[in-house]
Amino acid sequence: MAKSKKNFNIAVIGAGAIGIDHIRSFQQHPAANVVALAEVSAQRGQEAADTFGIPDLVTDYQDLLKRSDIDVISIALPNFLHASVGIEALRAGKHVMVDKPMATNAKDAAKLIAASKKHRRRLMVGQNMRFSPEVQTARHLINQGKLGDVYHAKTSWSRRSGIPRIGSWFTQKQFAGGGCTYDIGVHALDRALFLMGEFEAAAVSGQTYSQLGPLGRGNGDWGKGEVDKKAKFDVDDLAVALIKLKSGRTVLLEASWAAHLPENDFFTSQVFGTDAGIMLNPLRLIRPSRIGYVTEEVTPSTPLVNENRMVHFIDVLLGKVEPYVKPAESLAVQKILDAIYASSASGREVRIK
Ligand SMILES: NC(=O)c1ccc[n+]([C@@H]2O[C@H](COP(=O)([O-])OP(=O)(O)OC[C@H]3O[C@@H](n4cnc5c(N)ncnc54)[C@H](O)[C@@H]3O)[C@@H](O)[C@H]2O)c1
Repeated sequence: MAKSKKNFNIAVIGAGAIGIDHIRSFQQHPAANVVALAEVSAQRGQEAADTFGIPDLVTDYQDLLKRSDIDVISIALPNFLHASVGIEALRAGKHVMVDKPMATNAKDAAKLIAASKKHRRRLMVGQNMRFSPEVQTARHLINQGKLGDVYHAKTSWSRRSGIPRIGSWFTQKQFAGGGCTYDIGVHALDRALFLMGEFEAAAVSGQTYSQLGPLGRGNGDWGKGEVDKKAKFDVDDLAVALIKLKSGRTVLLEASWAAHLPENDFFTSQVFGTDAGIMLNPLRLIRPSRIGYVTEEVTPSTPLVNENRMVHFIDVLLGKVEPYVKPAESLAVQKILDAIYASSASGREVRIK
């Protein structure tokens, strides 16, 4: 690993809605230089390069993989490209930060991990929600034993009208791999498993729906890629699942891009232990006391790692900290997401090996 290096040259691939955030976030680290950008849209690429002062802009990311001065590739591409571009970058000797979901199936996610091991380069999935002060504080309190023995979690991200633009790559299976399950269910699930400190599942029972998107309802405004009005909406817009972890603990997951909800966009996670419960958004501890139940609001802080995932990744490369999001955890998450689709298709519980 590049422990002895003091500075890292970064290339970001994709200058869409989150690619901009990748650039901005890396630029917060004094040891990170964003030196290049690859973007197929000349206009989006030029705009980002100008805004963030990036010296090199290319349309073909392969030109960047050939460059020996680039240490890190940050992937902000449509889901179907995560694994293939990630593997190419690892083979070219680059460290890889890839946005969620890790891949569009667990097999490809495992290949990414194998490439990272083979080429001895770091790989991290940008599960940015895990870095939020709220989640860090909740995890810290759970680590301290405030909940007692943790046995169950409920977790959700629910949007009323939040499909990332009907007709964009997000709503086409060939590019996205899946709908709200892969897009925002991944965050809700990763967060709950992280809080519980357990990622490996034994069995999953899930159901996905595609009710409003195909009717052109529930449209949102996320994303910068092109919209194809004729493209078929063939992904899920709502998903539910019961996940049984290997220890026997359980997680109830719900994700929706579009549903008739009271709020337009709301996420939360609740974790239940033998002594207390904890709830996010806002962060609260719920526990019994002699005078009845007490709900205590907790002020979020950052007790575990830097709140900025890209700053954290550079700190990992500098050898200062251990990775906060481990590839094996992201693979376990991917297996559960895949099992939700498989369970929905078969109408049966899916067991995970
Ligand atoms: N961590 C988060 O909270 C978060 C939030 C949003 C999106 N994401 C993830 O980030 C990824 C990108 O999402 P987005 O919202 O930025 O999408 P987007 O459509 O806004 O941007 C994708 C960009 O990739 C570009 N692109 C496509 N193929 C390319 C190629 N071969 N080479 C170079 N550029 C190419 C497109 O032109 C577009 O500008 C997705 O996987 C999404 O799931 C993560």
